[in-house]
Amino acid sequence: MTSNTINNVVVDHGAIEALKSFSLPADISFGKALTPVMIEADYDNGKWGEFKLVPYRSLNIDPTCKVLHYGQEIFEGMKGYNTKGAGPFLFRPDQNAERFNLSALRMAMPEVPINDFLGSVETLTSYCADFIPVNSGESLYIRPFMYASESNLGIKPSEKFKFLVVASPSAAYFSSGSVKVLVEEDAVRACPGGVGAAKTGGNYAASLLSMIEAKKKGFHQVLWLDALKKEYIEEMSGMNFFAVYGGEIRTPSLTSTILNGITRKSIIEMAKHLGVKVVEQEMKIMDLLEDIKSGKCSECFACGTAVIITPIDTLGLANGELFPLGQNYGPTTKKLREALLNLQEGTGEDPFGWRIKLEAASY
Ligand code: COI
Repeated sequence: MTSNTINNVVVDHGAIEALKSFSLPADISFGKALTPVMIEADYDNGKWGEFKLVPYRSLNIDPTCKVLHYGQEIFEGMKGYNTKGAGPFLFRPDQNAERFNLSALRMAMPEVPINDFLGSVETLTSYCADFIPVNSGESLYIRPFMYASESNLGIKPSEKFKFLVVASPSAAYFSSGSVKVLVEEDAVRACPGGVGAAKTGGNYAASLLSMIEAKKKGFHQVLWLDALKKEYIEEMSGMNFFAVYGGEIRTPSLTSTILNGITRKSIIEMAKHLGVKVVEQEMKIMDLLEDIKSGKCSECFACGTAVIITPIDTLGLANGELFPLGQNYGPTTKKLREALLNLQEGTGEDPFGWRIKLEAASY
């Protein structure tokens, strides 16, 4: 058994064998096909051990592993691109590394040193370059995550953690193109002082029951309101929310109950660069619905790493009232989506320095 060290990541001989015998399934959807290798590192006695590229495998978890009981877990979502063979590229991976450590702080978990986080993601992407889909809108969806790996039932912060990065050659998140969104008027996702701004599994678990109810009514997603007054728009679990008013885009200003989306912040900077006015402010749901009715608001869209920019074709209330916005991409949504994809996929200029070019690893 031999190994090599790249970006401070130990490349296991078994990983090379796994890569050599892998071929990408002909049909890919979102998050189902997985690359044959992953990154793994363990934290114990106050420090991280080696970060390693290893063959993808199931984990052996003790039934008392703390994450299974107390949910001490965080994750990130990011993408590798190789559209028309121009990559591999990563998009603002430093932002994911930073946010990961903010989530870690909130969830009483150790930081992953930025260089180890970046080295892990870069190494995995370089070795999986051949498995990145080449069609626009497709990508290698990369999922770094960390969980409490200590085994015992005491409710106290774990002293052992596991960091992993897995990757999935993926197609578009929504096969439907646009989405129907139900305003959640009852349940709440996050409250002030809670963990809504951390990317932790519990926030997503908390959203699932509402999602089931929304699907029964013919919607794809729910739009969350603030926990205290249920008046202000927050986010959509895994997506942030934007509305288009004339030549201007509006999005709820960040609070402790909204995830600071990297796609959200990139759209804001990119739109300003393109001459589109951006307003970050508190947004009352009832004002928005009125404005859709009157035509003042002509487009709404969801954005996030997985969904890129996805148009919302209808907003709905529990009483059955619908606020249609149009089935197709509105002009502003389309313009921003194209600009973002050109930037991420390497088919356009990158005036911001956000696109990181990697070398494909040879093995
Ligand atoms: C992402 O966009 O990367 C997310 O984390 C959404 C995910 C829950 C599918």
